Amino acid sequence: MLEQINFTTKSILEKTNDFRPEIGIILGTGLGGLTKEISVAHVLPYESIPNFPVSTVEGHSGKLILGELGGKRVIAMQGRFHFYEGYTMQQITFPVRVMKALGVHTLVVSNASGGMNPNFEIGEIMIINDHINLFPTNPLIGKNIAELGPRFPDMSDAYDKKLVAKAVEIAKNNNIRVSQGVYAGLTGPCFETPAEYRYIGRIGADAVGMSTVPEVIVAKHGGMRVFGVSIVTDLGVDGKIVEVTHEEVQHIAAAAEPKMSFIVKQLIAEM
Ligand code: HPA
Repeated sequence: MLEQINFTTKSILEKTNDFRPEIGIILGTGLGGLTKEISVAHVLPYESIPNFPVSTVEGHSGKLILGELGGKRVIAMQGRFHFYEGYTMQQITFPVRVMKALGVHTLVVSNASGGMNPNFEIGEIMIINDHINLFPTNPLIGKNIAELGPRFPDMSDAYDKKLVAKAVEIAKNNNIRVSQGVYAGLTGPCFETPAEYRYIGRIGADAVGMSTVPEVIVAKHGGMRVFGVSIVTDLGVDGKIVEVTHEEVQHIAAAAEPKMSFIVKQLIAEM
């Protein structure tokens, strides 16, 4: 894996005139709008990057966008890889390894989720303050590569408390309603049954989705600082559960996206 990471990193540096990003951004479903705020220096479609997984979803090829946001050099993934698409955990998290090798020290992740917290509203912006890994596996399973991180990485502060506090402050100062909570990540691709929402809520999660946890585990393994934000697109709360569709998830996420993008941009500027 080290060889692949180094080869891909070298290839990206060659294609971008040695652009060295400091902050990595992974944009979730319907949340790609933040890229409009980036002063773009380079765009690399995933299919042009050696060793990058090729997307399984037609018309969703995805790209890396490198440029400046809030005065910082950033690398953003427009389109991420999901476990339910059939990728291995190593494939899903490979871009995070490459970001780290390029010089990224802070990872910002966003996603769409279902909310189990009874105080949540549809469109709620939830700043992630912890997670629960409900995937049946872990991206770090296998021989540990000491150059990439420790065998038993600490997860006691997976979501940087200072960044959480700063984001809450930015939201408050700009009259944007946000909450904080725990994100449970699982495989999908089906949405949850009412009993599953109840179960996931009872074990301590406020929201549930099909991504993020693998990337955050690998970011922490590599010693990166993490900030995460989730848009609650539907409710897994007894009495409020209705049919969920991917289209509805995208629609609600897109509606909340400008507020989320504002917070993230401001946060990056203040980092
Ligand atoms: N469950 C899982 N993933 C999701 C949901 C949900 O209710 N909403 C958006 N992504």
